[in-house]
Amino acid sequence: MTDLTALIAALPKAELHLHLEGSLEPEMMFALAKRNGVKLKYGSVEEIRAAYDFSNLQDFLDLYYQGMGVLLTEADFYDLTFAYLKRVHADNVKHVEVFFDPQAHMERGVSFETVLNGVTSALKDGEGEFGVTYKLIMCFLRHLSEEEAFELLSIAEPHLSQIYGVGLDSSELGHPPSKFQRVFAKARELGLKLVAHAGEEGPPEYVWEALNLLNIDRIDHGNASALDDTLLAEIKSRELTLTMCPLSNQRLCVTEDLTENPLARLLRAGVRVTVNSDDPSYFGGYINDNYLAITKALNLSADEIVELARNSFKGAFLPEAEKNAYLAEIDRISV
Ligand code: ADE
Ligand code: ZN
Repeated sequence: MTDLTALIAALPKAELHLHLEGSLEPEMMFALAKRNGVKLKYGSVEEIRAAYDFSNLQDFLDLYYQGMGVLLTEADFYDLTFAYLKRVHADNVKHVEVFFDPQAHMERGVSFETVLNGVTSALKDGEGEFGVTYKLIMCFLRHLSEEEAFELLSIAEPHLSQIYGVGLDSSELGHPPSKFQRVFAKARELGLKLVAHAGEEGPPEYVWEALNLLNIDRIDHGNASALDDTLLAEIKSRELTLTMCPLSNQRLCVTEDLTENPLARLLRAGVRVTVNSDDPSYFGGYINDNYLAITKALNLSADEIVELARNSFKGAFLPEAEKNAYLAEIDRISV
């Protein structure tokens, strides 16, 4: 295991499923609350961590939206994003494709530009300082309406040079991908990449809808695909990547136990699966912690770990030449 721990640390990796707001550590939540004069309902960092005991996705989302209430200024979004980049640089992450949830801030009176400027300045500075390249993905909150998603897209339109794709997140059950078919079609017309959370808590039918109605380029989570062999064959034939998040699944009770996570079965069935952290400050681990936990729980081999790291670059929205350079770097490390 020591060898595998060292291998995980040494491998260059891309992180393709990360909500910036989910990287808000309790320490920073406290610091920003103080800086902005926001009253928290917790008295200490320990109290916050103790509250992170979830039975399902909605339980988590309630605290996630509450926690991000301390993010008010451009500097707050900058600090949040820069801290995440610094942290994953230590895990040997070379490229990130990160989500942000503008609607959750705009409904608190924070402007779209405040959020975007803070996040993008930190992404640029992080690339300069740590060499971590990036793409930014703007998510629609699926518990809100189609009309509100269209409104967000029109607010974002003048800024599309800074936004690479759109995603779909928040409460999955009762909010199928079909609800956002038209807004995703419009996003595609605007030249954006398309991803969507599907099959996290929802059934395989939601993954089918993401494929056939939204025409997504990548699936976030996709756990439910393991329940439908025809769906798996379709995902393989389209060479779609699944951005899986094992510690998140465990903490949100999507899987009863890490040993039951479908990641290894999908990997062994030839699906391009990747390992990611989702909301690391809420789920107890960044990307290497996720690799390590799943390696132990599912008995992954060194070759399988290398394959997961390779998949992270294959599934990234990077030009072929850049992907190939990272894959060559992995080859040098893993011989
Ligand atoms: N927003 C942040 N994390 C999420 C998750 N795991 N699923 C859906 N929406 C989210
Ligand atoms: Zn997610």
